[in-house]
Amino acid sequence: MLYIGIDLGTSAVKLLLMAENGTILNQVSREYPLQFPHPGWSQQDPEDWWKGVQEGITLLLKGQEAHKVKGIGVAGQMHGLVALDSTGRVIRPAILWNDGRTQQQTDYLNQAVGKAALSRLTGNIAFAGFTAPKLLWMRQEEPSFFSQIAKILLPKDYINYRLTGVISTDLSDASGTLLLDVKQGCWSPQMLDVCGITQDQLPALHKSFEPIGTVKPDLARRLGLPRGVTVCAGAGDNAAAALGCGVVGPGKCNISLGTSGTVFITGEQFTVDGQNALHSFRHADGGYHLMGCILSAASCNQWWMEQVLHTKDYAEEQQYISKDTLGANPVYFLPYLMGERSPHNDPFARGAFLGLSLDTPREAMTQAVLEGVAFAIRDCVEIAKSQGISLSSSRLCGGGAKSPLWRTILANVLGIALELPQTEQGPGYGGAMLAAVACGEEPDLAAYAHRLCRVKTQVLPEPGLVRRYQRQYEAWKQLYPRLKGWTGE
Ligand code: XUL
Repeated sequence: MLYIGIDLGTSAVKLLLMAENGTILNQVSREYPLQFPHPGWSQQDPEDWWKGVQEGITLLLKGQEAHKVKGIGVAGQMHGLVALDSTGRVIRPAILWNDGRTQQQTDYLNQAVGKAALSRLTGNIAFAGFTAPKLLWMRQEEPSFFSQIAKILLPKDYINYRLTGVISTDLSDASGTLLLDVKQGCWSPQMLDVCGITQDQLPALHKSFEPIGTVKPDLARRLGLPRGVTVCAGAGDNAAAALGCGVVGPGKCNISLGTSGTVFITGEQFTVDGQNALHSFRHADGGYHLMGCILSAASCNQWWMEQVLHTKDYAEEQQYISKDTLGANPVYFLPYLMGERSPHNDPFARGAFLGLSLDTPREAMTQAVLEGVAFAIRDCVEIAKSQGISLSSSRLCGGGAKSPLWRTILANVLGIALELPQTEQGPGYGGAMLAAVACGEEPDLAAYAHRLCRVKTQVLPEPGLVRRYQRQYEAWKQLYPRLKGWTGE
């Protein structure tokens, strides 16, 4: 039997077709635009996602044994607010995970409701990208839209709704709304009160691998799918990526170098870090995890390559960076192009190059971008360490993981071994696995993920380079506190 995994990302939707033994038979992707209507705002039209998904499924099935498709699992960018009216229409463009418009609402939640209360109710404090501050923003700034809201969905839930007609979400994605009592796995009545919404505006909660419905018959016909294809609840992209990289069961780590950068640490028990700097969320395997998220990771490199250098040849640019400049680059880069989530919680932070001189070559700046992102990931790892979590290795996924140079930089900045899974499509692969479990193909998700995920290569840290990067990280760490609050106005 065959399973479709869909990764609803920020720049594109990626789809894969997986046989039950884990073999990937086909992969396609469709890009869609991102809107920045004001500095720091980030929106997308859910109709663009849906168009990409439909085109993607049709393309994916070309020349394949489509009649064997049994299930679909969608993994999606987290936290985005998709508001539907009573006819099921989208009220306004979705406000995304990297949108920074809600500082006032985030402050209100953290100060007036209070971090201690939020942490007790949800396991988390407010960050600008979370869903609850977006609801407060809409209530305040767009009251006529807010009053029309009949249903509140996350991005992948909107796709599941269009596929099946069923309004649902899963616990891993719901964790990022700040409306879920993560420990108990139910919506928090107090948080709904705070945001001025009621439980019937929220979707029903499911485990990621639970079936929620089947693809609507007329749609199935149009897309070339057989009748009765099961759709499972799916997962937030980070939980699905961890699953797709074999990071299930307690005490494991997955690092993603995607549009965002994340450090995802699994645990069997619910835990909250003392400073709430890491998110305490549900994992797609039924357990829990802690997560640090930097808002711009591979997107910094993409910005530098495509917007500034006007090239798409990343490997060509990186080939001029010689190994002996690693850990010795006088140029530093702060990757806060969309503000920063972990650990600073500062939507107004901005990117910067420092240490430039007349003899700075172009490759030193390219290198600084890769290093700046690695240092920001290290900030998240440092919080985990301060909570007594020790990491000696991690899986690595996301577009940025394709660069051997970036992998070397990251392994040495973190001082840990990085393991690359054979399958690079973390979230989509995880989504397909969830679909297979939902269809009864496999009874045990963790055993299935362990069986399917093989490590392709390992990047080991080198002691001399780790020492050099340690010194550079110490220097880099001083930059944000010194620049904090500077707006250029
Ligand atoms: C996680 C987060 C991002 C998005 C990106 O908290 O905001 O990783 O899920 O797709």
